[in-house]
Order: sequence, then C-alpha cells, then structure tokens
Amino acid sequence: MRRRARAALVAARERTALLTSCVEDADLTAQHSPLMSPLVWDLAHIGNQEEQWLLRAVGGRDALRPEIDSLYDAFEHPRAARPSLPLLPPDEARRYAAEVRGRALDVLESTRFTPGTPFTPGTPSAHDGAHGHGGLTDAGFAFGMIAQHEQQHDETMLITHQLRKGAPALTAPDPEPVPAYDGPSEVLVPGGPFTMGTSTEPWALDNERPAHRRQVAPFFLDTTPVTNGAYQRFVDDGGYDEPRWWHERGWETVRAHGITAPLFWRREGGQWLRRRFGHVEPVPADEPVVHVSWYEADAYARWAGRRLPTEAEWEKAARHRPGEDRSARYPWGDEDPTPRHANLGQRHLRPAPAGSYPRGASPLGIRQLMGDVWEWTASDFLPYPGFVAFPYREYSEVFFGGDYKVLRGGAFSVDAVACRGTFRNWDHPVRRQIFSGFRTARDVTAAESAAGLV
Ligand code: AVJ
Ligand code: FE
Repeated sequence: MRRRARAALVAARERTALLTSCVEDADLTAQHSPLMSPLVWDLAHIGNQEEQWLLRAVGGRDALRPEIDSLYDAFEHPRAARPSLPLLPPDEARRYAAEVRGRALDVLESTRFTPGTPFTPGTPSAHDGAHGHGGLTDAGFAFGMIAQHEQQHDETMLITHQLRKGAPALTAPDPEPVPAYDGPSEVLVPGGPFTMGTSTEPWALDNERPAHRRQVAPFFLDTTPVTNGAYQRFVDDGGYDEPRWWHERGWETVRAHGITAPLFWRREGGQWLRRRFGHVEPVPADEPVVHVSWYEADAYARWAGRRLPTEAEWEKAARHRPGEDRSARYPWGDEDPTPRHANLGQRHLRPAPAGSYPRGASPLGIRQLMGDVWEWTASDFLPYPGFVAFPYREYSEVFFGGDYKVLRGGAFSVDAVACRGTFRNWDHPVRRQIFSGFRTARDVTAAESAAGLV
C-alpha cells in the first residue's frame, strides 16, 4: 500500500508538471474563463492541501506558510475572483509544491499504515482518533486522498486548457481505431436489489460510503454512450428550438445564452466543427458526445423517447454481477484499470469511438462505463444512508442537496486512482465545460412485461 501511495503521488505530480510546463508563465496566471481558476492557483492549492493533510494532520508538522492558507481555500474565494488575489507567482508556487512534496514523502516513509479501512464501524481507528489520526492512516487513506485530489485538479487544469484560446499546447496519440460497433444498442438490466457504494475500497471517498442495498426495477440501458452523430440528429431535428424536450430551467438557459449545440461546436458551411485543445476539426460522428450540460442530456433523452439513468441504475449496470449477488469494483471485475479496459488518465485527449474497449465491458455487454466521458445521471447529489463526512465536510457534505447532479464513470481526463465503479462526481446541471456526456435508459414497457421478456 505504501508503494502504491508513493507511485500515485509521483504520477499525479508528473501530470501536474506537464499541465503547468507546456504553456508560458503568462498563461499560468491568466484567467482563461471566469468558470476556472488561473492554473497557478490550482498548482499552489494542490501543494496547500497536501501540506494541510499530509504534513500537518498526519505528520504533525508545523505550517510551512500559514499565511497562504486562506488564498488557496476554495470556499473563501470564488473561481472568478482568484486572478486578482496576491497568488504565489509560478516559480514560487512550483517551489512551494515541491517543498511540500519532499516532506510529504518523508512523512509517508515514517507513517504506519493502520489496518482496516477508514470509517468502518468496529475497526479501532474509525473516527475515534486512535493512533492520533482518526482514520487518516487506515490503509494510507490520506495519501490516497491527496493523490486523488491532485488528479482531480489536474482534470480541472485540463478543462482550463480546453477553454484556453491559442495554439495547441498539449499532445497525445489518438485512440486505436476500432471496427464500427455493431452490437445491440441497449440491453436489459434485470431488476432486484444490489449493493451500492462501498465499505471496503480503501481509498474510496466519504460520499461513496457505506455499502448499502438498493432496489432497482428492470430497465434498459444504452450499451454505449450517446455519440456525436446521434446527438447531431437531435440538433438537426431542431431539438434546441422545441421547448417540449426541455426541463424548464434548461429551456431558460439555452434561450438566455443562445445555445444551439454542445460547447466548442460551431457550424461552418454545411458542416459541424469543434475546437479540441486548440485544434479545429470536423465533429467525429462515432465518438461519444462531450461538453453537454445535464439539461442538454435530459432534452436529448426526451427527444429520443428515453430518459437518463438514475445513479443507482448506472451503478447496478456497472458493478452488479448477475447471478452472484455481488458488486465488483469495475464493470470488468475487480482488477485495476489498464489501458486495455478504459480510456483514462489523459493518455488520449479525446474520447474513444463508441464501442471501444470490449475488454472493459460489463457482464451484460455494456461498454465504456469507465473512462471516455463522464456520464450525467438523473440523480441529485445526496448522501447514502449512514454517510459520515470524512475527513472534512467541505469535500462532499456541503454539496448535498438539489443543486448538483451526479456524474459517473470518469472520462479520458481522469486518472484511474480517482475513478472507480463507486466514484461519484457532481456538478451544476448547466455546466458543460467539463468532459460530460451521457447514455440513455428506458423503462420496460407493459407489452415487454406481458410478453414475459423480463
Ligand atoms: C469532485 C470534481 C466536484 O473539483 O469541485 C477538488 C473535486 N474537491 N478539490 C471539484 C475537488 C476539492 C471536486 N469535484
Ligand atoms: Fe481542491
């Protein structure tokens, strides 16, 4: 576990270095979008969180630079206000993050990883401050949490790169070409209870816990994410001009902002083009659609005579082993993701064509549940029964309620350490600068029920 923690921290820092060294310093301090922080804020915030949790909370060390804590507190300053703060300049931010890292690796070597998994009732260190860490060192949780935190901000920085205007700064090979997908477009996910969430995954975050039983009625789910080609039929059919497809607030938003297609798309001549990390290119029909809001996903689904899956439906499809009454860690089983399973970790700067990664399919043949694009679900971000905030309320708890929709499955922009069958992401339903797509679901019809299909 210690080796794994060290490797996860090192990999995250390599990615951070790539994302912050491929542009000029002026690009690090610029505001590329009011939706995002300057890249240099993310960089020092990564170091500051690591300092707070690994050096101070676990290591018991004194603050290196207590005066900067408030600058990098996400709750004190909204993103749009961060460019005008007296932020550490790029070189100083790099030095600070590197200094924290050096000490964090010392703490890692000298910290005993306590047995058990955090927040498990009945294990000695769950929430009682035993060992002085209150669960932070169970299975090295704090180290895993901080590696995930850095990877999450790396994804945030990748979003900023996508919003940035100008010449391309990042490069990556395209996914391997695959034969066109010719499997079924949807499959039946049988009804019945399943185990949602986890109490055993060592580095699962508080909102993924605890494991609990959920009933799910039988439903049909798309075997692949919705593609650009399919989405374009909705656009070309006048989908953005028809209020009947739209949630009321979705309709207000597309009208108010003149939205007529996914973010970064534009029509030129008879053709749809998109901007992707500085390249302008025809929209590829076979790729999962990305950069749509929850409202757009919801409207498409209604137009198609379908709906978004609930979060429980999504997780059952991704994790439940039919016939075994067990939930696996990933659609393909319990094995950690490899490049053969899923498009994760910024190996590519785009989703792979629909139908890719047969090795990553679920037992029912559902593909690309992990990686490629985050998938909007119908569900609000709510705590599971028995939820306990850990280690801080501001990670999840303050976001629970009706303001955020849950996204599942991760995207090409997410590292495997921050992506699991139980992992929950969330955002406002208007957001579309994130790498968000979706797949659709439907109920079993009365005729199908009567015919004994389910
Ligand atoms: C889980 C992606 C919604 O970026 O707001 C980063 C992750 N939390 N630092 C976010 C997070 C604190 C979070 N999301
Ligand atoms: Fe953060």
